[in-house]
Amino acid sequence: MNDFWWWTIVLIARYLHIVCTTVLVGGTLFYEMVVPLAIDELRQEQQLLIFARARWIFKWLVWSSAILLIASGIFTSYVHWPQYSSENYGSAAERPGWWWAAHASTGIMALLIALSLTIGNTPPARPIRWMRLNLIALLLVIFLATATRQARLQGEQQIVPGQTHNETGG
Ligand code: HEM
Repeated sequence: MNDFWWWTIVLIARYLHIVCTTVLVGGTLFYEMVVPLAIDELRQEQQLLIFARARWIFKWLVWSSAILLIASGIFTSYVHWPQYSSENYGSAAERPGWWWAAHASTGIMALLIALSLTIGNTPPARPIRWMRLNLIALLLVIFLATATRQARLQGEQQIVPGQTHNETGG
């Protein structure tokens, strides 16, 4: 495969990962904050109907973005694996591999929580509380992703001051 196609596939995987993050976080925020407020003054049976419909849409958003996040995440991990597995870094905080492990594990945990909220015909007990918790987890996952990227790019530029990544053989 030539460089152009490889570059395009990596770009698409990155784009999908970011779009799915937006859909997951935005969907959770909407379902948790906007829907309850919007239906607050309706009769209870109307509230249940709207909530059930919104839950059905939320379910599809969560499942499709979870599948694409995992697929693009695994692919991107493969692409950057040489940097994640390299030990040519200074302190532990500078190693992208540690940040990657934290990002991927909290990402999987947040996805499992989101998926479990959509399984079954009835919502779980205290769904809003769980969603709020998951929203915080998703924001943490995004922070860990940006830290992974920063550590990786910084490491690529300069592992030892004055020496490039290639010069160290990493
Ligand atoms: C399920 C397992 C996941 C894996 C294996 C995974 C893997 C990755 C990898 C390898 C990167 C690239 C980091 C770098 O530039 O060095 C990344 C970036 C990112 N991930 Fe994930 N991820 C997962 C889940 C998630 C989830 C659930 C979210 C949503 C909160 C998420 C949001 C992001 C974001 C926003 C980026 C930054 C994208 C960029 O700047 O290019 N990831 N992820």
